Amino acid sequence: MEHQGEATDFERMVTELQRQIIEQARALYSAKVIEEFYNPKNLGRMSAPDARGSVHGWCGDTMEIYLRLNEDRIKEATFMTDGCGPTVACGSMLTTMVTEISLEEASEIKPEDLIAALDGLPEESLHCAELAVSTLREAIANWHAEDRA
Ligand code: FES
Repeated sequence: MEHQGEATDFERMVTELQRQIIEQARALYSAKVIEEFYNPKNLGRMSAPDARGSVHGWCGDTMEIYLRLNEDRIKEATFMTDGCGPTVACGSMLTTMVTEISLEEASEIKPEDLIAALDGLPEESLHCAELAVSTLREAIANWHAEDRA
C-alpha cells in the first residue's frame, strides 16, 4: 500500500502546484481573462469561411480569425492561435463580441474595447489584444478585397 501513499503525495503536490499557478494567474489577470482562457469560446478553424485573416505578431505568435457572413453581418466567428494564454482569452472574447454585428461595427472595435471587455490586461499583454484586433481587421479587409474583385 506504500504505492498508494506515494500516489497521494504526488496528487497533493500536483494540487498544490495547480493552486499556486491559479493564485499567480489571479494576481496578474482578471477573472474574465482566466475564464476565457480556461473555457475559450469559438476556438478552431472554420471550413469554407467567407473571410479569413492571419497576422503574425512581433512577439512571434500568430492569430487567425475566420468569419461566416450573412450579407454584411457576422453570423459566426472562430479563431486559432499558437500564442499565449491572454491571446486565447482575446480571441475568445473578440469572436464573441463580433458575432451578430455588422462588418462595419466590427471594424470599429479597438484594442482598448477588447481590453475593457476583459476587465483589463497587464501591460506586457496589451499587444495580445492588438494582435487579435489586427487579425479581425485583416479578415474584414480580405473580404472587402475579394468582394471588389
Ligand atoms: Fe504573443 Fe501574447 S505573447 S500574442
